Amino acid sequence: MKKLFFTLSFLTLAPLAAKDAPVYRDYEETERDCVRELYRLNHTYQTVEFVKAQLAKYLPLNHAAIGMWDVLEKLNALVDDSDPDLDLPQMVHALQTAEAIRKDGHPDWLILTGLIHDCGKMLFFFGEPQWAVVGDIFPVGCRFSDKIVHADLFANNPDLKNPLYQTDYGIYSPNCGLRNVLMSWGHDGYLYHVVKNYLPEEAAYIIRFHSFYALHQENEYQHLLDDYDREMLKWVQLFNKYDLYSKCPEEPNQQKLAPYYKALIAQFFPEKLAW
Ligand SMILES: [Fe+2]
Ligand SMILES: [Fe+2]
Repeated sequence: MKKLFFTLSFLTLAPLAAKDAPVYRDYEETERDCVRELYRLNHTYQTVEFVKAQLAKYLPLNHAAIGMWDVLEKLNALVDDSDPDLDLPQMVHALQTAEAIRKDGHPDWLILTGLIHDCGKMLFFFGEPQWAVVGDIFPVGCRFSDKIVHADLFANNPDLKNPLYQTDYGIYSPNCGLRNVLMSWGHDGYLYHVVKNYLPEEAAYIIRFHSFYALHQENEYQHLLDDYDREMLKWVQLFNKYDLYSKCPEEPNQQKLAPYYKALIAQFFPEKLAW
């Protein structure tokens, strides 16, 4: 992984969430019925055993060889069932996130991170159901925090029957670092493994944990973090503002933006990546 240490001080932490800005991630008020059903399935089937099986299946990265822009174009056919705020195709969300980061003058690697952060949803095109692709992520193998979205829907998760998994540390040791924790399986962890050798570690970390809202929004699971996580978490929190608050009904002009973003992708990635 490329080492590039950036300090947050020179970057804008623009208050994207203005006072009168719309409210995001309101799971009580969303009009999208698919969201709760998505989490019912997700919280029932994401277990230690399932996560290990998915890692074994996908980590060889032998499912496809495709360029990043082609993956983004594929995402045009996907609407994320877990998103209470947005029912536009994922390519729109990718461009909105990247454009918001670009407008604030952030470096190329962060703009690129905005563009590609959800490309792990490629899993959907390998036949995975949405509950194993999208939505918030959380550790398995230890107690589920009640701050996880729709936490009541864990009721039928088989891991609840294993006493070892019901404690704060479960199968982990104090401050073991998130890289040693099994996270529920989805687009974040998967994309991390696809891109980690090409990006600064801050970008790779953002990608890996951007859906871990119980941590970066609710401050849960602090007992599993180490110093490295605490340092990197600042980047996830900066990024999250763009992931959330760039969502709007106006669609960016894909055709006009394509040359700029294709060149940005070529700066960091080979023509084809192993998926
Ligand atoms: Fe995401
Ligand atoms: Fe996103």
